[in-house]
Amino acid sequence: MSNRGTVMSVRNLSKSYHTKDQHVTALSKVTFHLTKGEMLAVMGTSGSGKSTLLNILGTLDEPTSGDILLQGVKLEKMFIEPHATKFRRENIGFIFQSFQLLKDLSVEENIALPLVLKGLPNKEIRDKVNRMLELVGLMHHRTHRPVELSGGQQQRVAISRALITSPPIVLADEPTGNLDYNTSREILKVITDMKQAFDQSIVIVTHDPMVATYADRVIFFHDGNIVDEYVCKCQQDEDMDQILIKFRQLLER
Ligand SMILES: Nc1ncnc2c1ncn2[C@@H]1O[C@H](COP(=O)(O)OP(=O)(O)O)[C@@H](O)[C@H]1O
Ligand SMILES: [Mg+2]
Repeated sequence: MSNRGTVMSVRNLSKSYHTKDQHVTALSKVTFHLTKGEMLAVMGTSGSGKSTLLNILGTLDEPTSGDILLQGVKLEKMFIEPHATKFRRENIGFIFQSFQLLKDLSVEENIALPLVLKGLPNKEIRDKVNRMLELVGLMHHRTHRPVELSGGQQQRVAISRALITSPPIVLADEPTGNLDYNTSREILKVITDMKQAFDQSIVIVTHDPMVATYADRVIFFHDGNIVDEYVCKCQQDEDMDQILIKFRQLLER
């Protein structure tokens, strides 16, 4: 897996926020690589910069300094419109804790939305949406509205919508944060199955060690810095123990 090439490189990424009387350094010279097909978990205490990082990787926010390279290439004006939107549409799928479905649209309409925005022919949209409904087990709910679904089903719709365009990079911010333990495991299974099916790279932010055991690698954030790393051994119990130890060490800092 680690020999398969770098999809995204993050170099010396920093982000500061200036408010009326405060100066916050959310990210401080963060450097890491994301490999093709890799699932990278980002763990850290609250306020350590995880969401800021994800927002910048997805061009929803602009760094103060530093570079992001895609397959070794630095994209010019990546954070300036219309380049930011173009980059996002072509490369990134977002999954949020709060699902963020459009409540007046049905399941299939929500999933189809990115393809409609891309202007794909109707037949192609129908085929892709059907395949996705099969994959995530929502065929029988296709005409339902989000309010008629459980939390886990809503997250399946959100995942389907994020992945329907087969983006090479998926950014997930606490995707199981609103779900119970068993539903979280189901959703993680969906995410890892889809990753396999579409050969995607995923950055998943979580404060839950169980979630991190699904990743290939975990980086630990504290005060806007990467302070530790763990490469998973694909042995759930051992990985869980090691991740827990490292996460506890973070909390004690
Ligand atoms: N828009 C903003 N304006 C000012 N400060 C912000 C903003 N967004 C985040 N921060 C600050 O940056 C730091 C990192 O926040 P965040 O990335 O949301 O952390 P996490 O997701 O790890 O909880 C925090 O101190 C937070 O208060
Ligand atoms: Mg956050």
